[in-house]
Amino acid sequence: MALPARFADLKTSIATSYPNFEKNVTKAWSEILAELATVTKTIKEEGYIPQVNFADLSNLSKEDIERIKRRGSVVIKDIVPDEQAKQWKEDLKAFIKANPSVEGVPADDKQFFQLYWTKPQVQARSHPNLLAATVWLNKLYHTKPSTGSAKLEGVDMGIALTYADRFRIRKPGITWNLHPPHIDGGTIERWEDSHFRRCFDDLFTGDWKAHDPFELEGRLDARSSLYGRPNQSSVFRTFQGWLAMSETAPTQGTLRVFPDVLLSNAYIILRPFFSPSVPVDSEEIYDAKNWKFGDAVFWHCDVVHSVEREHTGDGDSAVMYIPAVPLTPQNQAYVERQKACFLEGQRPPDFPKGPAESGFLGVASVEDVLSKAGLRAMGLAH
Ligand SMILES: [Fe+2]
Repeated sequence: MALPARFADLKTSIATSYPNFEKNVTKAWSEILAELATVTKTIKEEGYIPQVNFADLSNLSKEDIERIKRRGSVVIKDIVPDEQAKQWKEDLKAFIKANPSVEGVPADDKQFFQLYWTKPQVQARSHPNLLAATVWLNKLYHTKPSTGSAKLEGVDMGIALTYADRFRIRKPGITWNLHPPHIDGGTIERWEDSHFRRCFDDLFTGDWKAHDPFELEGRLDARSSLYGRPNQSSVFRTFQGWLAMSETAPTQGTLRVFPDVLLSNAYIILRPFFSPSVPVDSEEIYDAKNWKFGDAVFWHCDVVHSVEREHTGDGDSAVMYIPAVPLTPQNQAYVERQKACFLEGQRPPDFPKGPAESGFLGVASVEDVLSKAGLRAMGLAH
């Protein structure tokens, strides 16, 4: 899809603000393609998404942690007891039954719901283990070596904030086309917003191996929702998260990720500057000679994560969307606005406008927040 002409100007301005841009990124591009060719072959054999037990989080080896950071994804097992997760799902089902007018899709057999403040959601987000895992995830981020240990104003990775999102109870046998491969937390903003773009400085200079997706600085004041589109997160989530409420296997309507965040960032950020001379699904696409430094803006689907179209299992595939969000000034400002929505039973600021939840039976109140850290996370205590 061709983008408006102003994006060609943006590309030119990026290209002219880094010395020797064309030479440096062309060299980087050929290295990135070669690495991608290898990684896409070996990754399947590696058992690629790290799995750890919640109880072991504080005892992981340096190698385990480095692997999690490179993959960019981690399964944390036994974060809450199975019985608790199943009970939450049953409670959500009961909520939907008691409130048949709840908005959801597909309209004739609702499985994904515009609900944010049910008791199970408020309880899960404020569960001490979920918040502890959030802090652990947040702390995988760090300041640049040049910033040293200086404390960033208003930032505390040890305090978790809540970002209210929805849940789904997906039934087998129904195809979903809602989530083809995409990145969350802003897309074009990664180039267009000058704050956000700083996260990728090392890619634009061609020093792609030095890129560190876990550096905090550029993320803190990144504007990830320049267009205010519904469902576009305006907060800095260190990790997006799903809390499982059922057991699923591959092909059963679950998550797919591209498990190398350094490499996918390097590819995606430099991709607009190059155009291929062979079809993108051909075998030769990894050969640098089949790409030339770009002269038009074309955008393709950046393969980072997607939701499986098919669900071939027998049971449902149910999750709550609960990301990891650290205390930063921008995030805190959002949490204040989100708190007002919670207290009024309105939908949170980043999401599609629609009927309030306050009229439904079984909506959560402040008493349903499970922990002190949970109250802090929602801006209800300091
Ligand atoms: Fe997503």
